[in-house]
This record gives sequence, C-alpha cells and structure tokens, in this order.
Amino acid sequence: MKSSELRSFEDYQKAYELSVKEPEIFWEEQAMKLKWIKKWDKTLQWNFDEPHIKWFEGGKFNITENCLDRHLEKRGNKIALIWEPNDPKERFLRLTYKELYDKVCQMANVLKRNGISKGDVVCIYMPMIPELAISVLACARIGAIHSVVFAGFSASALAGRIQDAKAKLILTSDGLNRGAKQIPTKRIVDEALEHCPSVQKVIVVDRLGWAVDMIEGRDVYLHNELPMVDKHCPPEPMDAEDTLFILYTSGSTGKPKGVVHTIGGYAVFVDYTFRNVFQMDESDIYWCTADIGWVTGHSYIVYGPLLAGATTTMFEGIPTYPDPGRFWQVIDKYGITHFYTAPTAIRSLMAAGEDHVLSYSLDSLKVIGSVGEPINEEAWHWYNIHVGKEKCPIVDTWWQTETAGIMISSLAGVTPTKPTYAAYPLPGVQPVLLDGEGNELHGNNVEGYLCIKYPWPGILRTTYGDHDRCRQTYFSNYKGYYFTGDGAKRDENGLYRIIGRVDDVINVSGHRFGTAEIENAININKKVVESAVVGYPHDIKGQGIYAFVILWNENDENESPERVRSEINETITAEIGKIAKPDKIQIVRGLPKTRSGKIMRRILRKIAENDLSNLGDISTLLDPTVVEEIIEGRI
Ligand code: WT7
Repeated sequence: MKSSELRSFEDYQKAYELSVKEPEIFWEEQAMKLKWIKKWDKTLQWNFDEPHIKWFEGGKFNITENCLDRHLEKRGNKIALIWEPNDPKERFLRLTYKELYDKVCQMANVLKRNGISKGDVVCIYMPMIPELAISVLACARIGAIHSVVFAGFSASALAGRIQDAKAKLILTSDGLNRGAKQIPTKRIVDEALEHCPSVQKVIVVDRLGWAVDMIEGRDVYLHNELPMVDKHCPPEPMDAEDTLFILYTSGSTGKPKGVVHTIGGYAVFVDYTFRNVFQMDESDIYWCTADIGWVTGHSYIVYGPLLAGATTTMFEGIPTYPDPGRFWQVIDKYGITHFYTAPTAIRSLMAAGEDHVLSYSLDSLKVIGSVGEPINEEAWHWYNIHVGKEKCPIVDTWWQTETAGIMISSLAGVTPTKPTYAAYPLPGVQPVLLDGEGNELHGNNVEGYLCIKYPWPGILRTTYGDHDRCRQTYFSNYKGYYFTGDGAKRDENGLYRIIGRVDDVINVSGHRFGTAEIENAININKKVVESAVVGYPHDIKGQGIYAFVILWNENDENESPERVRSEINETITAEIGKIAKPDKIQIVRGLPKTRSGKIMRRILRKIAENDLSNLGDISTLLDPTVVEEIIEGRI
C-alpha cells in the first residue's frame, strides 16, 4: 500500500488545479494528515515585500512526534534507519522505529542535562553516523534549533557559522572516516572554538576510539552522558512558526547566510513531497546518498522518510571506497528499492567503467532519483540503462536549501519524465519564467529567470539575524516574486528544464559556493592583489572553479607559480574547506575591467569555457590587451 495520494496523472492534474485555485484549502488538507497538538488558527499570511510568511499560525506541533511517536503503534518494529559504515567489513546497524525513538529521547535528555532548552541553537558537526540523525531529532524533540555544519568545512568556516548563530553547544565526534582517510573532527572543533565564546559545552561521540583532548567543564563524551539520563522525553509542544533549523548556504555575496525554516510548514511540505515524488510501498527501502550536512539530508534522509514511516538508509562512506562498485553493492546488500543520488556521483561512477555496476544485480530497485544540479543527457541515459535497467522511473528533483523540499519533479511512475528535465511543478508550487524586465513569459517554449509567485509551506522565512538580506537576495530582483537564482526553460508541453544558476553562484559537485566567497578566501593570501573566480563546465563535477589571480610581485624570483598555487589552495582549504579548492588557478597581470572598474566576468567565463568566438566587444575595456594575455596563458 502506497503512502502517496497522487497515483495517476489525472490525480496530479486535479491536485495541481486545486492547489492553484485554493492554495489554503489544498495545504490544509495536507497538513491534516499530520498530528497537531493544537490545530492552527490561520492557514496563511503573506507578502513577498518584507517578506512576511506564516503558515499554520497558532498551531502547536512537534515534528519528532510525527516522525516517531505517531508510528510506534503500527510500525514500532519496522526498521526506521539502516546505517552502512564506511568500511564494508564493519558491522552495520539497523534501528526500529521504537529503538530510534528511545535513542532520540535519551539524546534529548543529554542535551537538557547539558543546559539546552527550547530556543537554544545547537551546532552539529558530525560525520554520517547514526548519532548525527539522532542529534538532529533530539534537538527538534525539545525545541532547540539545530544548525548542522557539513563536516568537510574547515575550522574557520565552522567558527563563522557558530558565531553567526550564537550556538550554545556543539555535538561532534573524535574523528571521521572518509574512504581510506581519517579526519580529526574534534581537533577542528577545538580550533574553531578558540573564536566562539557562545559555546558552553561540547558533546563528543567516540567514533574512532581516538584519545582526543577534552577540556574539563566544557567537553563531555556522549557514552558517559547516556547512562545518566532518563529514557523518557515528551515532545515539546512548539508553535508552527517556531524555528526548526538554520542551515548555512552560499550566495552571491561573500558570507554564507543562515537559511531559516520553521516547524509546521516544513513538516507539511517535506512529508507531502517525499510521499508523492517517491511513491513508496510500506515494505520498500529508501536510500539517499547525500550528507545530512546539506539540505537534501535534512529533508530526504531524516525528516521526509521518517514522517512517512519509511525505512531510510544512511551511508558513512564515499562512492569510490573501497571501489567504484560500493553504491551498487550496498543496494544489493539491503535490497534498496528507492535510490536518490547526485549527477556528480553518477558521472564519476560512469567514468569508472561499466564493470562495477554490471557486477551487481540491482534487481530490487524501483525508483531512482537525481538532485543537486542539472543532469546531462549522457549521465541520465547511463543511469537509466545501467542502474535503473530501463524499468525504474527517474525523478529529477529540482529544489534548493531555501525551498526546503522538492519543487519541480516528476512523481515516480505517475507523471511524465523527459531526459534532463525536472518536468512538472509539484501541486502547491507555482513557478513562472520572467524576462530581464520582470515580465512573466506566458505560454510554452520559453526560457527565462525561474521565480515562484506564491508561497508554499516550505519557503524560507528569513536569513538568520539579517532579515533584510533575505529580502534583498530573494525578493527584490523581481517585485512580488521569490527569485530562485536559476534560469529555466519550459518546453512545448510545459515541462521545465533547469539550465543553471544565473547569479554568481557556482555549483561544484552539487555544493554551492559564491564566487565572492572563494575570492575573499584567495585574497587573504598576502601575495595576492586581486582575484576573480568563475565556474566552467566540468565533466564530473558539473562545474569546476577557475580562479584568475593577480600577484603583487609577479616577477619575484622566489615565487614559482606552482608555489603560489599551492599556497592559495592552502588558504582556501583553511578558510572554507577542501571542497572549494579551484580546479585551475591562472596567474594574470590584469583582469578585464570596465572603465568604471567592474570586472567583466562574462569575458572570464568565456575564456574559462574555452569559447573564444563569443567574447563580445572588448574595445570598451580599460585595457583590452589583458584579454589577449589571459587567453594565451589559459589553462
Ligand atoms: C541549486 C540549489 C536541492 C538540494 C541540493 C542542492 C541546483 C538542484 C537541481 C536539479 C538542476 C538543480 C539549482 C539550485 N539544482 N537540483 N534537479 N536540476 N539544478 O541545494 O545547495 O541549495 O542548491 O542547485 O541551481 O538553485 P542547494
């Protein structure tokens, strides 16, 4: 028995129509499927000018009661969470709904015991171990706000996020496994905390059995705390519009911003989208390969599947360890029916050759999904043929950290798919394409800026500590619309294809970076005068990072370009993390600038793309000869 309500194209069309005509009635109906401690007073209040958006105001709700308690009677002994370790020889773990419930309650009590109460911000900097999902839910249980920071970020990036959110407590581990490597997580936290006075406590999970430094009075081990607490922890009744979490994401300006999602609307949106996009049966087993440090993990490893009462899988490792057959081996091991991954992973496994994927049966698969960046035609077909064996619908799901959940996607086996197209908007989602002047492009076969013209329950409410930034970033480019930052095309049948970012955001292997954010990191190096960063097409990562850098002393005998490059890489690793290292660094004498001093990124992008026929008019540049030099020196 499926948990979805949309089972045919006709169901979808009807629901879509209602959702546009009567959005409030439509979402009330979806919200009623969850358990409310007290029903809401007002379904929706909104304007996109401030912006001011409230869903289900006056409602009392706890998301963990819906993820856990609600299922205990019927699904207490069903597996809620499967955990697959980095090393295939290590024992895996399976937790039933009842066991997960117990662990979340205990963790919640550990948080309380360490001074956390409703409204406090807890930062979670952990590898993909069960304690990560448990910590997230434990925060939500007691009304603490979680801010999960991906454990690949550097101490400096972590410190910035802790400071911005004024987190009181950090949950972390001694170290982490990443393929054949191990990384000293706790040491990174210690370094970050030198600059974070708000943090009073650090709770450490013993993952690797390392003897790490523990600061008396500040740091405690989880395994010493657990025996001290009660098993019982009632869910805190929260207001629907209380904050559930903050999640930092990059934008076109330098500093990452804390996207804020609130409890009621988030739960309703993630529950509805998960059930209807994936179309799972009760006995199906779902695996999303994302990290819980990104929004995909929040919404579609933890909350969505658990709200739906599904079995969700968490994987600690990487796709290529111990070999590029790992994903396929794990699918066969657990009989995964629903598999959700990113185009960059698909492309890298495609590049590893067919032998790996052909060594496994993959018979259990029913639905396969893609998320995080546009999927190219070749990868789509490879995924369809070799993974889905041409019998699994592919759901190409377009959404963003800011949207909380899937916005445009086909519903598996229910609505049409088309290679490289995210296809139709979900019911309740009203996308539009705008031209440069902000006019709506009507009809089909059009291309423009992708905006959303009506609120959905999962829309971000603010950016933490700076509401005006939220307004400026998302609601000021086109008055009355939420601007996504993406360009898109609508084909002759009304299906959407996402083309990619139209702002200064680069999407590297599905991870978002602002060009300014990377430039700021590069400019910290004292030898650098100025830099300009652009994205360019990259076979595996989708986009690669190309940095053009001007040095103070380009002729310094002691400075080989290799040395400067490796120093710049070190600076970026320290400021942001390894994931933001440029693929190419070109030392240049000057950058193409207009007479008013603005860097012409369009020209740099063309050079990085190796598309020299389309540079446009460069005669108006301050110094047109730099372009020739950059072209000659390109990498
Ligand atoms: C950006 C959002 C969605 C959660 C993970 C990334 C790009 C995302 C698709 C897709 C084409 C996609 C967009 C979007 N994107 N999914 N199916 N097809 N592009 O979340 O880090 O907030 O990034 O990822 O450019 O704006 P994010």
